[in-house]
Amino acid sequence: MAMNCLFLYSSRDGQTKKIITRIAENLRRSGEICELRDLATVKTINLESYDKVMIGASIRYGHFNSALKKFAICHQQQLNKMPTAFFCVNLTARKPEKRTPETNVYVRKFLLNTPWKPDLCGVFAGALLYPRYHWLDRVMVKMIMKMTGGETDTTKEIEYTDWQQVDHFADDFLGIMGKK
Ligand SMILES: Cc1cc2nc3c(=O)[nH]c(=O)nc-3n(C[C@H](O)[C@H](O)[C@H](O)COP(=O)(O)O)c2cc1C
Repeated sequence: MAMNCLFLYSSRDGQTKKIITRIAENLRRSGEICELRDLATVKTINLESYDKVMIGASIRYGHFNSALKKFAICHQQQLNKMPTAFFCVNLTARKPEKRTPETNVYVRKFLLNTPWKPDLCGVFAGALLYPRYHWLDRVMVKMIMKMTGGETDTTKEIEYTDWQQVDHFADDFLGIMGKK
């Protein structure tokens, strides 16, 4: 029987949305029912009508959107009873050694501080879209890139996301089972 999957995302410039959309499309091809929603528009929701939940969120200036923490706290009981997955999108993860839940500082901190215990966690490299940023963000991101040995040419748009890694994550999500 087809599973009813909910995909929630918190995305500022669209990369997290692009990633979770691809995951949902992969699962649809496998016959699952997939609903995709922006976390910003979902305050409370009854998760009982879903079999699985995935949440993806991006990092800006070291932080997730506050809606993520609020959602995880508010829905912790239901989330912890069902199969769930979490992934984070950031540019630190453009370096492969910082692209695992154990080695990526944002994921590590989130997992330590949230009462939600996802069954599956992932980290994906995001996109660097200099021309599309507000000038102040462009200056700040360039500074961060310079400090961390990254791209500083502000005419460039680079997508660092490893789509094969995303497809593997979708496969893993298909495989996770309930806890109880
Ligand atoms: C203003 C700004 C601040 C950012 N701050 C960070 C950061 O502190 N650490 C990091 O690893 N990536 C940072 N990023 C990179 C984003 O996480 C990356 O661009 C990601 O693809 C954004 O995903 P989204 O489009 O779904 O919001 C920043 C990007 C912008 C535009």
